[in-house]
Amino acid sequence: MEREIRKAIDEVLHKLKLAVESYVVERPREEGHGDWASNVALVGAGNPIEKAEKIVSELKNSDLMKSLDGIEIAGPGFINFTIKTEWWVERLQEIVKQGKDWGSGDWGKGRQVLIEYSSPNIAKNFSVGHLRSTIIGQSIRNLFEFSGWKTVGDNHLGDWGTQFGMIIAAVEEGGLDLSEMTVEEMERLYVEYNQRAKEDESLREKAKEAFVRLEQGDEGARSIWQVAIDKSKADFEKIYKQLGVEIEHAYGESFYEEEMKEVIREVKEKGLARESEGALVMDLGDGLPVGMLVKSDGGTTYFTRDLATVRYRSRTQGLKSDLYVYEVGGEQSLHFKQVFAAVDKLGWVKRDNLVHVAHGMVLGEDGKKMSTRKGTGVRMAEWLDEIVKRAGEINKHSAEMVGIGAVKFFDLKHSPVTAYRFDQEEALRLDGYSGPYVQYATVRARRIIDTSSEVNQDISLRKNLDIEEVRVIKLLDKFPEVVKEATLDYSPNLLADYVFDLAKSFNDFYSKHRVIDEGEVEPLRWFLAKGVVEVLEQGLGLLGIGVPERM
Ligand code: ARG
Repeated sequence: MEREIRKAIDEVLHKLKLAVESYVVERPREEGHGDWASNVALVGAGNPIEKAEKIVSELKNSDLMKSLDGIEIAGPGFINFTIKTEWWVERLQEIVKQGKDWGSGDWGKGRQVLIEYSSPNIAKNFSVGHLRSTIIGQSIRNLFEFSGWKTVGDNHLGDWGTQFGMIIAAVEEGGLDLSEMTVEEMERLYVEYNQRAKEDESLREKAKEAFVRLEQGDEGARSIWQVAIDKSKADFEKIYKQLGVEIEHAYGESFYEEEMKEVIREVKEKGLARESEGALVMDLGDGLPVGMLVKSDGGTTYFTRDLATVRYRSRTQGLKSDLYVYEVGGEQSLHFKQVFAAVDKLGWVKRDNLVHVAHGMVLGEDGKKMSTRKGTGVRMAEWLDEIVKRAGEINKHSAEMVGIGAVKFFDLKHSPVTAYRFDQEEALRLDGYSGPYVQYATVRARRIIDTSSEVNQDISLRKNLDIEEVRVIKLLDKFPEVVKEATLDYSPNLLADYVFDLAKSFNDFYSKHRVIDEGEVEPLRWFLAKGVVEVLEQGLGLLGIGVPERM
C-alpha cells in the first residue's frame, strides 16, 4: 500500500509541477491518524496547508481512492490516508495464502554475511555475556537468512593468550592433572594464580615463560592446553544443545598463529608499522589509539589475532563475505574500532562492511555482576537448568521450551546495547511482556486452527470488521516491514516488541469474539487466527524460540 500511495503522490506532484526532493509515507504511531501518513506537503517551499489541499484534491480524482475510505489533512499539513476495510480483508487472505513465506524477503539475494557470535573463552565458565552474544547473534543470523542472505557462522573461541601461560604454570607448579578438573576449577586455578602473581614477580615470569613455550609448540605445554580446550568445548556443547544453537565454524584465536606472521609481514611491507618503545605498533588515524601488533616482549596481541582473522576470512572461499558482523560485548567497542580501521587501511575489508553489534551487560537479580563468591563466573548451564525447572511449574510437558524461550525472549526484548537486570520471575510471567506470554497466545490460536476444519482459501469473506479484528490484521500486514527493520538495524528487540503486540492484540480479539460458535466456523476469524499462528510461529522462530504443543 505504501508503494501505491507513493505512486499516486508522485503522479500528483508531477501534474502540479511541484518539486519535492524526498518525503515519507509511513504508518502513524498512533491510532486515529489514518493507516498511512505523508509529510509531502511539509517539505520544500510554500504554505504546507495550501499545498496539502491541492495535493489532496488531485488525489481524490486518482485511482488510489478505490482503496481508500478517506483522506484527510491533519496538523501542520500531514496527509492521512485511511484504507477501506475490504482492502484489509483481501490482505488477510493474501497473507494466509503466503503462509510461512509471509515476511520473508529477497533483498539479500546473492549476498553473504558472516556472523561471529558466542565466542566463549577456554578454561573459563561460559558467561552470561557469551549467552547474550549467542542469543542475539543467532537471532540476527535468522533474520538475515529470512531476508534472502546466505549466512555463515563462526564461533571465535578465546583459546590463546597469556592466561594460558598462567594455567600451565599453575598446573606445573602443583603437579596437577587438568583432565581431573572441571572447567570451573580451571577458572579458579587461573583466578588464584593471577591473584598471587600480582604480588610475586617470579610467578609472573613463570607464566610468561610457559606461554612462550606454548607458542613455540612445546609438547608439555600443548597437552595441558589441549585438555583445557577439550573439556571446555564439551561444557559449551551442553549449553549450545540446550539453546538449540549450532555454529558451523569454531576457528579459535589459536588458529590464526600462522596468519599473524603474514599480518605482521604485510603491515610492515605496506609501510604501516612502526616501532615504539620496543613494541611494533600501527597508527590508525581517526583519533584512535595506536594498534599494538607485537608487544615489547615479543608476544602477539588480541588485536593482531583479530587482524589475522579478518585477513584469513577475506581470502578464504566460503568465509569471504559481503558483510562481517561481530556480536561482542560493548566493553570491546574501542578494540573493534581499531581493528576495523586497521583492516580498512590495509585494504582487506572496507570499513562499511564490518559491524560490531555491541551488547550491554546482564546483571544478576541483585543488580550485581553474576559471579560466584570465589570470583569465577556463574555456571550458565546450572543457571539455565534452574529456570527450566521453574518453567516446569507453568508447563510440565514443555519446561525446556518455555524456560529457554523465557530466557531468550527476556534477552531479546532489550535492544542489544542496553544493559539489564535478569529477573527470572518476570521472564516467566504468563501475563507479562514475556516469552511464555507469546508462546501461550500462539498455542491458543493454533488450537483454534487444529480443532476446526480447513476453510477454503478463496472463500469470500465478510467485509465489515470489528476494531479488534482490524488491529490484528494491520499488525499481520506490518510483519515484513518489522523483519526488514530488525535486520537492517541489528535489533531483534523490534521483532520481540512486535510479536508481543500481536499476541496481545490477538488475546484482546479472542476475549471478545468467537471463532467457532456452536460448531460453526466464522471464516474471517478463522483466517485471522490462521495468520496469527503463522506469524507468531515464524516471529518466535526468528528469535530462536519454539512453541510448545500445549500450554
Ligand atoms: N572471547 C572474547 C571474549 O570473551 C570474545 C571474542 C570476540 N571476537 C573477536 N573477534 N575478538 O571476550
